[in-house]
Amino acid sequence: MLGRGGCSPLVCLGALLLLLPPPVSPHSLNQGGSSGHGAKDRPKLLLLSFDGFRWDYIHRVPTPNFHSIMDEGVMVEQVENTYITKTFPNHYSLVTGLYAETHGIVANEMYDPALNRSFSMETDSIYESRWWEEAVPLWVTIQKAGGRSGAAMWPGSDVKIHGLYPSQFLPYNASVSFETRVERIIGWFSAPKEEAVDFAVLYWEEPDESGHLLGPQSSLMDAVIVDIDEKLGFLTNELKKAGLYEKVNLIVTSDHGMTQLFTDNIIELDEYVSRDLYTWVDKSPVVAILPNEGKLDEVYNKLADANPNMEVHKKEEIPEQFHYQHNIRIMPIILEAKEGWTIMQNRTGPFMLGNHGYDNTLRSMQPVFAARGPAFRQNYVKTFMRSVDLYPLMCQILSVRPLPNNGSLSNVQDLLSAEPATSAPSVPPRVSGYSYAPVVGSFLSVVMVLGFFVVYVREVTLKQLPSLKHRRREMSQPLLQEDLHL
Ligand SMILES: *[C@@H]1O[C@H](CO)[C@@H](O)[C@H](O)[C@H]1NC(C)=O
Ligand SMILES: *[C@@H]1O[C@H](CO)[C@@H](O)[C@H](O)[C@H]1NC(C)=O
Ligand SMILES: *[C@@H]1O[C@H](CO)[C@@H](O)[C@H](O)[C@H]1NC(C)=O
Ligand SMILES: *[C@@H]1O[C@H](CO)[C@@H](O)[C@H](O)[C@H]1NC(C)=O
Ligand SMILES: [Zn+2]
Repeated sequence: MLGRGGCSPLVCLGALLLLLPPPVSPHSLNQGGSSGHGAKDRPKLLLLSFDGFRWDYIHRVPTPNFHSIMDEGVMVEQVENTYITKTFPNHYSLVTGLYAETHGIVANEMYDPALNRSFSMETDSIYESRWWEEAVPLWVTIQKAGGRSGAAMWPGSDVKIHGLYPSQFLPYNASVSFETRVERIIGWFSAPKEEAVDFAVLYWEEPDESGHLLGPQSSLMDAVIVDIDEKLGFLTNELKKAGLYEKVNLIVTSDHGMTQLFTDNIIELDEYVSRDLYTWVDKSPVVAILPNEGKLDEVYNKLADANPNMEVHKKEEIPEQFHYQHNIRIMPIILEAKEGWTIMQNRTGPFMLGNHGYDNTLRSMQPVFAARGPAFRQNYVKTFMRSVDLYPLMCQILSVRPLPNNGSLSNVQDLLSAEPATSAPSVPPRVSGYSYAPVVGSFLSVVMVLGFFVVYVREVTLKQLPSLKHRRREMSQPLLQEDLHL
């Protein structure tokens, strides 16, 4: 947890102003409801996820827009996300602060024996509310507290959960451009006071899709990352044009990273156990196996020591650190490939050059994290956080009472520009931002923007890839259809 750089005169001025006693701020969603004076100053927050944006992509090619957010705000070097490191489980953890075993979206593909129903990104089953209702996402909580929310394509955000959709949302459609998603969100933040959203979530399919297709080691990924940085630049520019840049707190993160796979590193289950003995519920790298009635021990014994590159766990023995056990949707046997390995039934069939889903303590599985805005400190680098800590942090920023969760505000409090007035969990938290912060922020941002242009003109702009067709991430996976008969 180190501050980057020294104390420039401007930063020192900011620090000095922040040391003055804070004026009390009244704008709590819990206390104020959706109307009443002061509502116009209610804190705003935009949470953006670029799917599969691994933490170190920002160090690989020039990414001036990420770096200016980090310079103006905070960055976290290491973010431990939740197991399994897949898209749906992690996006739901970000907005609930819960491990997958508790929020119930335990995988992109799952089976619920109590419901005798399957959930799959490839079917409309994702629109069935009951899959999502073991938890309450932040947008629902905000609305129940009298606030408003908006969502553009975030997993689960076009599903009715506990009776509510986001106040404003776009139904999932991968063909809708990033720019259109941004324009809609800007509109929702800019709406007249009573209709404006307080909290919005924005999702984009890349660089996950290209990461699967090309593998993260491919040099073609460079242009994909540059393109994402330009998309971030588009967003910040639109926020500035709408006069929102100093008002809206912006968090830029992702659900998981990506690792390179190799065709030599394939584990073929058919070599060890007959397909007739089990149902294959979820795919590599954490394969969920449902043995047929009475076949649990037989299947387990055949797989347990089958391959040194595959860990085999009975549900009761899944390591505690994963917090991935206590849910009926977690199957009786879980196979976990070692990093870089792929588990298949046989070598016929689809193979991807990049994947994620592995152990969440692997560096390659971890996402980027940067944030800026009136609630955040400036030019501050933190070494470590857990992605479940983001939820209580967002609740603090939005002055909404968090539901029980697996995160802890105190772990990430240092990211905020001010200490909270109170931290008792049963008391609705007060607003954290001092009213000086926006003033200092605007002043600093002018300087930052000037600095940004100087940096930007020096950066080499790489050619973009010929545009890859955007489909729902992993919905259309595997992207590379390759017959692996060698
Ligand atoms: C579960 O549903 C399938 C159809 O989707 C049906 O064939 C099967 O009998 C059901 N199983 C139970 C135990 O109800
Ligand atoms: C998805 O978006 C595209 C591009 O805006 C549009 O042409 C298409 O009609 C949309 N599809 C659906 C099902 O709404
Ligand atoms: C591999 O599995 C497919 C079914 O998924 C089957 O059609 C094919 O014959 C199998 N190949 C071998 C070599 O067993
Ligand atoms: C996570 O939080 C939920 C809700 O408070 C709780 O029920 C669950 O036991 C927690 N999990 C862990 C591992 O602490
Ligand atoms: Zn993802």
